[in-house]
Formats: sequence, structure tokens, C-alpha cells
Amino acid sequence: MRWNVLSAAALMATATIHARAAPASIAGRGDNGFDDLYGFSDALAEYYSLVSRHIYNTNRDSMPVCDLSKAELPSQASGLPAVPAGQNLVYVAIGRGTQNYTCSESSSSVGPSPIGALATLFDASCLAANFPDLLTTTIKVVLNYQGPNLPSTLPPANVAMLGHHYFSNNTTPVFAFDSAPPGRGGMAVTRKIKQMTAPAGSVPGQGNKGFGAVPWLYLQTIAGTTNNYMSVYRVNTMGGSPPTNCKGISGVFTIQYAAAYFIFSEG
Ligand SMILES: *[C@@H]1O[C@H](CO)[C@@H](O)[C@H](O)[C@H]1NC(C)=O
Ligand SMILES: *[C@@H]1O[C@H](CO)[C@@H](O)[C@H](O)[C@H]1NC(C)=O
Repeated sequence: MRWNVLSAAALMATATIHARAAPASIAGRGDNGFDDLYGFSDALAEYYSLVSRHIYNTNRDSMPVCDLSKAELPSQASGLPAVPAGQNLVYVAIGRGTQNYTCSESSSSVGPSPIGALATLFDASCLAANFPDLLTTTIKVVLNYQGPNLPSTLPPANVAMLGHHYFSNNTTPVFAFDSAPPGRGGMAVTRKIKQMTAPAGSVPGQGNKGFGAVPWLYLQTIAGTTNNYMSVYRVNTMGGSPPTNCKGISGVFTIQYAAAYFIFSEG
């Protein structure tokens, strides 16, 4: 299984290499995904500090394996419906892309309307299973990457591309696992059941500035879904919210965001 290949031991090893190499690469050598960073951010510093602590705390003789049953939704997701009985976690994906909006006229009395989103999904399942703190910090780091041309294996945690998230119409979020290993792909076509405001203190946007983190969501699958995917939770959101009104904006615009998606199936 893919999990074993992306084992925590490998994560630790590669993370250590990156920790040593990162400052030189960021300075502009141009040979890896760090090119596209705005700079050595607080989020990246936090990431490497967590990696160091995990390496220090990890007993070399008992490296954690990638056991997805250990991955849990963040505790604040209790504001959303619980995972329905009989459903199992299949993927924890990091989504990185844009939330899209439109303003019918440039006016402070008109609000932006959501018209969908487009994001690349990366398989962060092993990270979520073993190091939930690193999952959150990785999302913080990747929010600051310049999209949309992301590497197929995304630093700093070296998570592999899993697929794409888009809307088939304004109210229908789709998750296409088109980069998954053979037999593990398919598609979740969903509709929104419930949302909650992102927890206080969520990262509001790139560079820690912006209009706020988009809500956390509970989505259920509808017709068109394959592989028995049943539920999708959007949590750990950062960025993506629009300004409160359309003053100075007219037409379509996009807001950068990142989030974690927990994807469940049945049977
Ligand atoms: C959303 O914005 C992206 C750019 O990030 C664009 O490629 C995509 O077509 C847009 N989708 C919609 C539904 O507006
Ligand atoms: C959007 O797609 C969903 C699912 O296919 C469908 O049920 C709904 O009627 C569509 N909405 C519009 C406005 O076309």
C-alpha cells in the first residue's frame, strides 16, 4: 500500500535533509519547490522546529507506521456532524488553490457571491496519522506557495499529488482522485450539508493577512460518486474568504486558500 511507502521514517529522513538544505534553496538556487516561496516564513520556521522535536522524540527502533485509523478530525470539528457509523477514513488531503467569487457591481452595498473553487489535492494521510501538528503547519506553509503550478510532490513534507478539487456547478464540489494509485482513485461528487465558522485564530490568508479562513464544512456525496466515497470534511482552513463587500471589485476574482480534507468511504 501507498501508506507504507510514504512511511513516517521516510518523512523524517527527507524532512531532515530539507531542514539542512532549506535556507540555501530558499535563497534562490531554483532546484526545488522552494523557489516559489515568498521567503523563509514564520510558518516554515515553525515547521522545522516541529520536525526537529519529532525527530528528537522518535525512538529509532520503533518508527511509527502509517496507520490511518490513528488519524482524527481536529477536535474543533465537533461543531460539524459526527462521522456517520460504518464510514472509514480513506484519505486526508491537503487542498491548495483558490476560492472563486464574483461581484455583480463595484459597490459597498453588494456582497461577493461564491462561484466555486479550484485546488490541487495532496495525500497527507500519513502526516495526519502520525503528526497532526505537522499537518496543520504544512498547510500554513503551503498557503504561502505561489500557485497554481505546484510540484507533484509538495515540500516541505513531500506529500504526493492525489488529485483535484473543483466545482461542476456553483453548488457542487467535486473531488477527483486522478493522481491516486491504481484502484484507489475515483471521484466524490458532493453537496454541502453543514458549515461552521473557522476557529478563532485561523490563518486569515497568505502572509498571515487577508479576509479570513473559509468555514469548515461537512459534505455528503451524491450521484456521480464512485468507489463508495460517502463524506468529506473540510477543516484546518486558511485564507479563502472574500472581502465583505464589492467596493472596488467587479466581476470574477479569486482568493488563495489551503485546507485539509478528510475523505470517508463505506464498506
Ligand atoms: C476558479 O479560479 C481558477 C483560478 O484559480 C480558474 O482556473 C477556475 O476556472 C475558476 N473556476 C471557476 C468555477 O470560476
Ligand atoms: C448542480 O448539480 C447538481 C448535481 O448534479 C444538481 O442536482 C443541481 O440541480 C445543479 N444545479 C444547477 C443550478 O444546475
